[in-house]
Amino acid sequence: MSATAISTPNIALIKYWGNRSNELRLPAADSLSMTLNTPTVEITVDYAEDLIIRSYESDGAEREMTEKHMARFAKHLELTRQYLTQIGAEDAIPASVQLTIRSGIPPGVGLASSAAVFSAVAKAYVGLIASSIILTDEQTSVIARLGSGSAARSIFGGFVTLENTGRNGMDGAVAKQVASEDHWLLHDIVIIPSYDEKKVGSTEGHAIAQTSPHFMERIEAIGSYRQKDCIDAILAKDFEKLQKVAEEDSLNMHHVMETSSPPLQYLTQDTHRIVDAVTRLREEGHLPVLYTMDAGPTVHLLCTDEARMQIVDFAHAQEGCTIFEASVGSGSKIIQK
Ligand code: PMV
Repeated sequence: MSATAISTPNIALIKYWGNRSNELRLPAADSLSMTLNTPTVEITVDYAEDLIIRSYESDGAEREMTEKHMARFAKHLELTRQYLTQIGAEDAIPASVQLTIRSGIPPGVGLASSAAVFSAVAKAYVGLIASSIILTDEQTSVIARLGSGSAARSIFGGFVTLENTGRNGMDGAVAKQVASEDHWLLHDIVIIPSYDEKKVGSTEGHAIAQTSPHFMERIEAIGSYRQKDCIDAILAKDFEKLQKVAEEDSLNMHHVMETSSPPLQYLTQDTHRIVDAVTRLREEGHLPVLYTMDAGPTVHLLCTDEARMQIVDFAHAQEGCTIFEASVGSGSKIIQK
């Protein structure tokens, strides 16, 4: 018995930062992202006596699994089994499995690999148990979220929210599709200034977000207008409105990060230089482009199809940076069961 699924990262326009439950990865606020069409991660799950994880890079090289990685997958499997028990599918998944991960994501490039990995794992689990229970995509998003909050959003294609349901248990937040990948052709031109591994991962970062004096202000802003403005901008394909709200939210998340204790400084001089340069380019050329940064120095430039070539040229003119190009994608899929 085995099942295979593929998935991709997503880029958040309203960022998820901070939890109301760290264990269950229940976010303190709603978030919203665009699912990307590339790079892909493919994961096969098989029955096994013990938990085995084999992870391969795109060049076929096997990646070493640290104890911390193993513990995260083990915890995720345990939580998944608890969730399945709650929805009436006790023991649908065995207590141990073998996961074979084939990642097309260049390591350490600031492209959310945990989002692609845990959404693919969730889909693969759902494929494995399809003969005993059929899960909806919202239920699948809960399983993805238990491994990485942002992974919940990669279950769907297009433009996707992660929303609090008002409940406190495992199903306290689910992903929902706002608009499909056919709604609006946007591109994400990714400028990667540095390949250095980040020192503080997002799991640790979420856990200290509340220590920032600006955290509550951020949660209130998302709840009162930002998430809604972002949804409205996407539905109306209003790029200017999307740019304003997405940039405000990204800078605000970094303000929270930089004022938490200990402070987290993910943006570098290179990030600020690229952001200043793209802002000037936008003003001169009236280009539909916006910048947004996750937990690292990488700059994501989202743009419409008409601006794509100019933004690609701009990206390649940034010295010492690696460039990656993606567009809106269709979300995770079971490819064999
Ligand atoms: O899913 P996590 O725990 O890796 O958190 C993702 C955090 C950000 O990438 C910074 C924001 C987001 O919403 O993707």
